[in-house]
Amino acid sequence: MDVKATLDALKREAKEAITAIEKMHELNDVKAKYLGKKGPFADIMKLMRDVPNDEKPLFGKTVNEAKQVILQWLDEARERLVQAQIQAQLDKETIDVTLPGKKFELGTTHLLTQMVEDVEDLLIGMGYQVMEGPEVEQEEYNFEKLNLPQDHPARDMQDSFYISDSTLLRTHTSPVQVRTMLQYGGTKPVKIICPGKVYRRDDDDATHSHQFMQIEGLVVDEHTSMADLKGTLLEIANTLFGEGRDIRLRPSYFPFTEPSVEVDVSCHNCNGKGCHICKGTGWIEILGAGMVHNNVLEASGYDSTKYRGFAFGIGVERLAMLKYGINDIRMFYTNDIRFNRQFKK
Ligand code: DAH
Repeated sequence: MDVKATLDALKREAKEAITAIEKMHELNDVKAKYLGKKGPFADIMKLMRDVPNDEKPLFGKTVNEAKQVILQWLDEARERLVQAQIQAQLDKETIDVTLPGKKFELGTTHLLTQMVEDVEDLLIGMGYQVMEGPEVEQEEYNFEKLNLPQDHPARDMQDSFYISDSTLLRTHTSPVQVRTMLQYGGTKPVKIICPGKVYRRDDDDATHSHQFMQIEGLVVDEHTSMADLKGTLLEIANTLFGEGRDIRLRPSYFPFTEPSVEVDVSCHNCNGKGCHICKGTGWIEILGAGMVHNNVLEASGYDSTKYRGFAFGIGVERLAMLKYGINDIRMFYTNDIRFNRQFKK
């Protein structure tokens, strides 16, 4: 038998089989068929017995070379399959750069945050510091030290959510006045604002919300006067309602201030002539304020014969409603996107 011819025929056949391979698993089948234990090479090696001794090395070498060649073809086929796989993957994942892009809509700051930020910007520029206080508050700070002792009738004005006998959700941001003065130790001047959430046991309707926002302001110094308060409030009114506003102070009552005032701003809608927003009066009430009551100064560690202060409390929702003609306070909290997106900053 001509071994060389047999091997050549075998190689030809193997080459054809390898070239036809299209899948990885076929590669293994072909390898097993030609190079496996029961394959043609096993039979050929059996012929070794009949080969004269001196020709045995050459015979072995020839057979081995044929095996190596087939192995190499198999390797090449494997490489070809791997490349084809990668190419197929790449083809599948190509990006169609001509497709229109996805549009991302930019969100906007909530209207209430915008109002707070406007006031903060103004007052920080005037040297105020922004403070924070806890929303879960002690009665002592929320009422007592603000000159609202137990059984004071004015406590009824602020129906409260109690958590325990002496702990409640703060009904206003005014307790931050007390906290700040105590923290300052009765010796340093105070100039702070505190924006934040407050809570009252109200039934929610178009004008009431059990949770709303206030901005508290407090200035304590040796020569603080009502004129300073008025000047500050005028600036705030102009910031919130536009340049050219006028303000007026009306006597009022708050337990923590004496004298107390309610502050009106000239109507931004009709410029004071009278319209539906100002209910024909030309004025809109925007906040409560006053000179800090001596009892509050003393309870907070400030000598009331030396220090005087003014304070103000702004209801943020009310202002936003007046400014933009919003007629339902619940709009701020139901987060209808169609509402929110009207107030892009
Ligand atoms: N705390 C008052 C309220 O919630 C608002 C207020 C009025 C705050 C007068 C003040 C002030 O600081 O001086 O009704």
